[in-house]
Amino acid sequence: MVSYKDLGLVNSRELFKKAVNGGYAIPAYNFNNMEQLQAIIQACVETKSPVILQVSAGARKYANQTLLRYMAEGAVAYAKELGFEIPIVLHLDHGDSLDLCKSCIETGFSSVMIDGSHHSYEDNVRLTKEVVEYAHKYDVTVEGELGVLAGVEDEVSADKHVFTQPDEVEDFVNRTGVDSLAIAIGTSHGAYKFKPGSDPKIRLDILSEIEKRIPGFPIVLHGSSSVPQDLVAIINSNGGKLDDAIGIPEEQLRLASKSAVCKINIDSDGRLAMTAAVRKVLAENPGEFDPRKYLGPARDSLKALYMHKNSNVLGSSGKA
Ligand code: G3H
Ligand code: 13P
Ligand code: ZN
Repeated sequence: MVSYKDLGLVNSRELFKKAVNGGYAIPAYNFNNMEQLQAIIQACVETKSPVILQVSAGARKYANQTLLRYMAEGAVAYAKELGFEIPIVLHLDHGDSLDLCKSCIETGFSSVMIDGSHHSYEDNVRLTKEVVEYAHKYDVTVEGELGVLAGVEDEVSADKHVFTQPDEVEDFVNRTGVDSLAIAIGTSHGAYKFKPGSDPKIRLDILSEIEKRIPGFPIVLHGSSSVPQDLVAIINSNGGKLDDAIGIPEEQLRLASKSAVCKINIDSDGRLAMTAAVRKVLAENPGEFDPRKYLGPARDSLKALYMHKNSNVLGSSGKA
């Protein structure tokens, strides 16, 4: 058993309290490899922002659980070396079973998500409660989910949203003991969130109903990429083909960050930033074959994106 405390990581409890009271959201950025981790840490140290490093089940398969644990420990040391200590959470994104949550907790995760949103309400309560009971023994925080986001999450996909019902949240939070709640209010996973030409809107009215039922309780937004159109254009003008990719307007996320939304998940925008940089370098330099020559610019572009998110969208800059 490796405790996250020995790795220099923190759970999300205090961070969420401060974020809810301070009217900002903590960035939750996914990582699968070294360049992504470097970009996240560099951006968050430079903006003095707390950060949640997210690992999906797919990332764990891709990168290897042992390597990930050492990478997270390395991230803590790297932040110190860069000259400013920031709080770092290592979080399981979309855990689907008690066994996976246990395994992550045993290898140094300080926070886990149990996503029972595809089960019936009662099964979701039962599964989430089991995970909370296990995790809290180790002072690990737990995120649950109510409502279903459209789009694809690992092997699970849904065609349309099932918005979170405000009437259910109080009962869910009380019966499960979760530390934070992910809700479905119109965000979705991936790059194709809204139809082109539409006026993308998240349901801030449902968010405010939910806040009335559980005042001050930490709320999480998944599927919060904005799909920057300049990145889509770079990809498409350098051999890519991403048609009709549209995301959540950043102004709406800025508004949501000022409420009890205290964690915002962004993965797809980072994928677009890296892909745009790699495609551009390779299109302009077809003879290049040193991975550092395209992964380096991809890392720089990712870092710039995250600095922008922290400072202009989530409001987490200076809050570390
Ligand atoms: O919500 C899903 C995250 O973007 C992680 O994606 O399961 O492909 O690693 P992944
Ligand atoms: P995006 O696909 O919008 O980046 O959402 C990521 C996410 O919710 C990870 O859990
Ligand atoms: Zn998600």
